[in-house]
Amino acid sequence: MTKEQQTQIAAATRLVEGGRRPEWTTGIVNPPVWRASTILFDDVAALRAAAAAPNDGLYYGRRGTPTQWALADALTELEPGAAGTMLYPSGVAAIAGALLSVLKPGDELLVADTVYDPTRAFCRSVLAPLGITTRYYDPTIGAGIAGLFGERTRALFLESPGSLSFEVQDVPAMCAAARARGIVTLLDNTWATPLLFPAIAHGTDLTILACTKYIVGHSDVMMGSVTATPDHFEALRRTAQLYGNCVSPDDAYLASRGLRTLGVRLRQHQEGGLAVARWLADQPQVARVLHPALPGCPGHEYWVRDFNGASGLFTFILDGGGEAARTSLIDGLAHFGIGFSWGGYESLALPIDPVRSVNPWRAEGPAVRLHIGLEDADDLIADLAAGLCRFEQARG
Ligand SMILES: Cc1ncc(COP(=O)(O)O)c(C=O)c1O
Repeated sequence: MTKEQQTQIAAATRLVEGGRRPEWTTGIVNPPVWRASTILFDDVAALRAAAAAPNDGLYYGRRGTPTQWALADALTELEPGAAGTMLYPSGVAAIAGALLSVLKPGDELLVADTVYDPTRAFCRSVLAPLGITTRYYDPTIGAGIAGLFGERTRALFLESPGSLSFEVQDVPAMCAAARARGIVTLLDNTWATPLLFPAIAHGTDLTILACTKYIVGHSDVMMGSVTATPDHFEALRRTAQLYGNCVSPDDAYLASRGLRTLGVRLRQHQEGGLAVARWLADQPQVARVLHPALPGCPGHEYWVRDFNGASGLFTFILDGGGEAARTSLIDGLAHFGIGFSWGGYESLALPIDPVRSVNPWRAEGPAVRLHIGLEDADDLIADLAAGLCRFEQARG
């Protein structure tokens, strides 16, 4: 599809049609699961031709089959202006693959203080020993990020909204400032997905998804993706290939199937999430709700300006109380699972204690992150109402 055609067709349609090339679907609706390590060639000449063009057509299992290509293609089509997408065995592997494709020893990386904690661990434990330094910045800095750029700054990592505390960043202004200085921008766009925030159209060079969450949508597959502009895709692909990153065709099939219903699922996550968040904001035991779509969330104005909607993940802060009171709230919930990850069809509750280095975390009480799944919002609210009573009793 040409760039013009891609932007003219609505995202909902691209979501359904993306990646379903006739040569990959062979007459059926979904690209089938093509499992392969060895690919057989008719003769040595065909083998040599494939080796000369390993990014085009079947070559070897690590480079994928139509099952993985269809998923990558569909993700690319959701990002107008993108050249291509690479798939990774997890979201963390995607973050690592993206960073390693742009950084070299001696470079400096600027990272939002609200970044997903394992991204911070990767910078500390992998990038630092390679001679790549990381400096954290206040996620609400906006265009002021230009004041932090130094001689060695090579890349700017954003995550919007930020993990656990949900600050929305001024992505267009920050990416424009970086581009003016030749600095590469990377965004963890897992919360919004390209449906709610097409990142490349907003100026990002590389956009990262933990597909484990909303793309797969059913809590049964680990996967990550990075989608890049033409200027950055070749380095991204080469780095992914050098590190041997690949995903199984079975997992790619499940992710493609999840992707087709992303639009309707996100609408439901948004509706349920906002109903629960607004109800929580009115409860006396709750000090604050951190949800990008609610006024009062830092950067809410950028969410209004730039996003097509909200997903189902947010945090609320309890008014006073300690660990035991928070635990009594969470442990007794009937409709919320207690576990890591999010983006599946089921609701989850997680006790959270954010780690920050620029602005130390301060809150009125302990915090709980909720993922609102596809259940009836009134059932979830009744469950939380009982939980807040338990919290109040335990708080004393
Ligand atoms: C914002 C964000 N990015 C990346 C990841 C990592 O994804 P994965 O668990 O697939 O490695 C997560 C996981 O929770 C996440 O919340």
